[in-house]
Amino acid sequence: MKIVKTAIIGTGGIAVAHVQADRSQNGRAQIAAAMDIDESRVNAFCTTHAIPQAYTHLDALLAEQKPELVHICTPPGTHAALSIQCLEAGAWVLCEKPLCGSLAEMDRIEDAERRTGRYCSSVFQWRFGSGVRHLKRLIQSNAMGRPLVGICQTTWYRDHEYYKVPWRGKWNTELGGPTMGLGIHAMDAFLWLLGGWKEVRAMMGTLDRRIEVEDVSMATVRFENGAMGSIVNSCLCPRQESYLRFDFQRSTVELRSLYGYANKDWQYSIPKKSDDAEMLEQWKAIPAEVPSSHGSQVACLLDCMERHERPLVSGPEARKTIEFLTALYKSAVTGQIVTQGSVSKGDPFYQKIHGSAAEKFAN
Ligand SMILES: NC(=O)c1ccc[n+]([C@@H]2O[C@H](COP(=O)([O-])OP(=O)(O)OC[C@H]3O[C@@H](n4cnc5c(N)ncnc54)[C@H](O)[C@@H]3O)[C@@H](O)[C@H]2O)c1
Repeated sequence: MKIVKTAIIGTGGIAVAHVQADRSQNGRAQIAAAMDIDESRVNAFCTTHAIPQAYTHLDALLAEQKPELVHICTPPGTHAALSIQCLEAGAWVLCEKPLCGSLAEMDRIEDAERRTGRYCSSVFQWRFGSGVRHLKRLIQSNAMGRPLVGICQTTWYRDHEYYKVPWRGKWNTELGGPTMGLGIHAMDAFLWLLGGWKEVRAMMGTLDRRIEVEDVSMATVRFENGAMGSIVNSCLCPRQESYLRFDFQRSTVELRSLYGYANKDWQYSIPKKSDDAEMLEQWKAIPAEVPSSHGSQVACLLDCMERHERPLVSGPEARKTIEFLTALYKSAVTGQIVTQGSVSKGDPFYQKIHGSAAEKFAN
């Protein structure tokens, strides 16, 4: 068994999930060090989690520890530069969402991957649970007929207090509102399940929170396979829920959950008079519970490191979701329908996901 030496960058709230993820791999991942620009925070974190070395400078950590895998758990606006720095130092990277703030940054990350032969994955733990994996296999085998209608709703609640954290609610540091920060998990899974999209039309608004970025966005999508989808991302909804729905020719599959999901959260329905026993059996054959957790993603990543294979949500697969988000924001800002592949170099939305309409907020 190969043991991978890891490091954690950014020791705030989500870093704990990364420690737990590494520690749930039966010894395959050993956390050697953690780093944060806040010295007292990184020291306390290392003490609490029994991590041997604390750093306040990434250069020093990379030079002295030479980690093979770096977890990036810092605020969104720092992700692309830190990911590239770690790739250049010879590490693989698992970076928190959103991986970056534009297609231009995504291209720079992919360039760094090509130069270094290392891979940079975006945290999208929803792709790794047994529910989504099972549905993906059923869609690939056409078990339920063609997908026709999809719904993807992230209706969560984040109060004014939540946005008092200085990096939140601003284009340059959070890179977007609930679209980039909350709904990104459900949308990434939704897009992966339904396949390539052709066009998107969207609206967004800042209805109640005192923030630069949107607090709600809505989009409609036409997929390459003909299916149509409806998306809502909001941080204004006191009764919180994540809801995914897929209507196929022969069945409906729904997920109701909040931050993650379990097998029990998935519901499968067939038309009243149908006795589609074979399809029912296929649905019931859902594998044993694999949680939609950081640990499940890290397990797959360690397998890929051992085989030196590109991990699932890196490079082109990570780019698809960033491109979709770019199109959603561009449509919401401009009022235009945005087609897949149309945001290219020279387009202000290629350089920054919010494009030129938000220039007043740029540094
Ligand atoms: N995947 C998930 O389910 C999930 C859940 C929550 C948050 N997140 C993501 O995790 C990231 C961090 O969120 P959080 O809630 O932990 O934030 P946080 O503010 O609690 O922690 C961020 C930490 O990063 C440190 N930091 C800032 N700039 C740094 C730099 N350049 N180098 C090193 N350290 C730096 C800060 O001092 C702080 O300790 C965000 O991108 C967020 O979207 C993901």
